[in-house]
Amino acid sequence: MTDAAAALATTPPRRVLLKLSGEALLGDAEYGIDPGVVRKIASEVAEAVAEGIQAAIVVGGGNIFRGLAASAKGMDRATGDYMGMLATVMNGLALQDALEQLGQPTRVMSAIAMNEICEPYIRRRAVRHLEKGRVVVMVAGTGNPYFTTDTAATLRAVEVHAQVILKATRVDGVYDADPEKHPEAQRYSRIGYTELLSNRLQALDATAVSLAMDNDMPIVVFDMTIAGNIARAVRGERIGTLIAAEESR
Ligand code: GTP
Repeated sequence: MTDAAAALATTPPRRVLLKLSGEALLGDAEYGIDPGVVRKIASEVAEAVAEGIQAAIVVGGGNIFRGLAASAKGMDRATGDYMGMLATVMNGLALQDALEQLGQPTRVMSAIAMNEICEPYIRRRAVRHLEKGRVVVMVAGTGNPYFTTDTAATLRAVEVHAQVILKATRVDGVYDADPEKHPEAQRYSRIGYTELLSNRLQALDATAVSLAMDNDMPIVVFDMTIAGNIARAVRGERIGTLIAAEESR
């Protein structure tokens, strides 16, 4: 096992980066933010933070706007991506509101300066907020088009020295084929970065995986639709699939 994955297996993480897709905030709706779902996510995060875990959150924006889908319909890709980044800011503010209603101090930090709405992302300041027990919601992706919020999550996790990325999804891990199309698909409990990349498994985009690989950053993919799973993942319980370096034989 690599150092990072081995450390994770023996000691619960102290600092985590939770990646929430925009779709995670949809609930049963087709568009926008379901306040009930946001409250549920916030209460699980607040519960784990109350136990002393430091949590940063990177949130996507696909519930409001998808840059890639717009570019497929003819919009300039960079413009679509910037609109997607703005969508993540709305989601971040909704998360902050829900967390602070529960009494959990939260700071929203944006990769694109919009000082009237939230703080600019400054790495050392983000770390200081985390040390003080504040949840830091990192929005506007990396601030650059052509990157995904999975890549933003990996970049931020590496920057703030999180021990693990927790990718909350609607499936319970990484499968060897799309489980919605292939019912016989098998779930991995652990998979190496290079196997994930070479099999072109769609759990995360390749840029995010290779950045994680270069920095020995473990990623746990888990099902957030099961009540309590976000809190379990944040506490370091083994759920879903662990993506880490290949185990040496
Ligand atoms: P410490 O300095 O570590 O105590 O952090 P702090 O965030 O409590 O203090 P600060 O005085 O920097 O911020 C107070 C409030 O203003 C917090 O809610 C911040 O999120 C917010 N804030 C700080 N900088 C900005 C900014 O550039 N824009 C916006 N909109 N809010 C900001």
